[in-house]
Amino acid sequence: MASTCVVGLQWGDEAKGKIVDILTREHQWVVRYNGGANAGHTVVKNGKTYKLSLLPTGILEPHMTALIGNGVVVNPVKFLDEVANLRSAGVEVSPTNLLLSTHAHLIFPYHVEEERLTESGKGQAIGTTGRGIGPCYQDKISRSNGIRVGDLLHPDFLRQRLHAIVPRKNLILRALSSDAKTFDADALADEYLGYAQQMGPFIRDTVHALQQAVHDGKNILFEAAQGSLLDIDHGSYPYVTSSNSSTTGIWAGSGFPARFITRIIGIIKAYTTRVGHGPFPTELDDGPTGIGETIRKIGREYGTVTGRPRRCGWFDAVATRYTTALGGVDELAVMLLDVLSTLDEIKICTAYEVAGQRTTVFPGDAFLLERCKPVYETLPGWKTDITGVRNWNDLPAAERYVSRLGELLERPVSFVSVGPDRDQTIFCK
Ligand code: IMP
Repeated sequence: MASTCVVGLQWGDEAKGKIVDILTREHQWVVRYNGGANAGHTVVKNGKTYKLSLLPTGILEPHMTALIGNGVVVNPVKFLDEVANLRSAGVEVSPTNLLLSTHAHLIFPYHVEEERLTESGKGQAIGTTGRGIGPCYQDKISRSNGIRVGDLLHPDFLRQRLHAIVPRKNLILRALSSDAKTFDADALADEYLGYAQQMGPFIRDTVHALQQAVHDGKNILFEAAQGSLLDIDHGSYPYVTSSNSSTTGIWAGSGFPARFITRIIGIIKAYTTRVGHGPFPTELDDGPTGIGETIRKIGREYGTVTGRPRRCGWFDAVATRYTTALGGVDELAVMLLDVLSTLDEIKICTAYEVAGQRTTVFPGDAFLLERCKPVYETLPGWKTDITGVRNWNDLPAAERYVSRLGELLERPVSFVSVGPDRDQTIFCK
């Protein structure tokens, strides 16, 4: 049995979906273990573009069984929409190839409202995706306010829980703003019991299902959402998401023992992007004709979920060395290399300067990271279209750049992506 994890090493949007798609050939199961519909995964297959937020992208392959683990937070509307959209695009989705954990937590409209009000409050904004992710995880941890997917299967219990929770939520919402939206427990219970009818067949004890898959010798692929620098414990706190988006989330978020993982592939973009607020030492904030804007335009760096322009900057080897070590990464995939093809020269941040001292230690804390100034090394650009290259030896000066990234992160580079399509990939080993 082999089990692989594909994990982003930056602030998300590293194009993990493409590597997951490639790896589905060698796996039979695919698992999401963190986050929710805040993730945006784009996969281009046979010229067709699929956008998924909540469902694992591996579901696009007919031989794969997709599993949404207990660590995910689920908005039923998004879940049902994605199932319907895939079906209308001709992708088979049924309770035999899609399993949803009884222990995943449910997002309710009051979570979305709470996030809206908190984010618009003074001095509190994280720059979230507005999907209710943070408030739902807060309620999970509070225990008294959490509702799990499995509760949808017990109508009286669900209604009773909502009757206890909704008045508390309304109090909080009104305290946040006098014009807050408030909610009615019975209306929510009716709405969610409607979803339960359609979701019921997908709801399963996924820990047991995974154990059975292991017993049956299936190869399992873990698809992390967001990036390791957004990890709630290890990222640039507080400008992070609310789940363990590094590999540290696998065990808790799926019940799959981390010691069974045999391969961890760290995904890096050839540059860095970030959406939302928070420090970003290598950001290229150089105006409408600057390199930051060039990367944004060529890389189509706009959020899949929110459409927000992504902040763009040079590759940060200090941050990614940290997440490589944190995640137990074995090998690397370098994505979107073609986006840099027009640049004369390309910079890599190899150290930070803080208070006159040079350091290569990444501080997992926004307060400290804000004080870090990047120290760069500069490499020549390749100024050639590389989107048609399929062999490592045919990469021009770009080969030097990719090799340098591998050297700095002390890991072999296994994949280089030179375009969105599955076949625009260089397999390096
Ligand atoms: P939340 O996950 O919606 O709570 O947002 C928290 C932070 O994580 C914000 O900076 C978001 O922009 C960022 N974020 C959440 N999901 C993604 C993602 O899939 N890609 C990139 N950034 C994300």
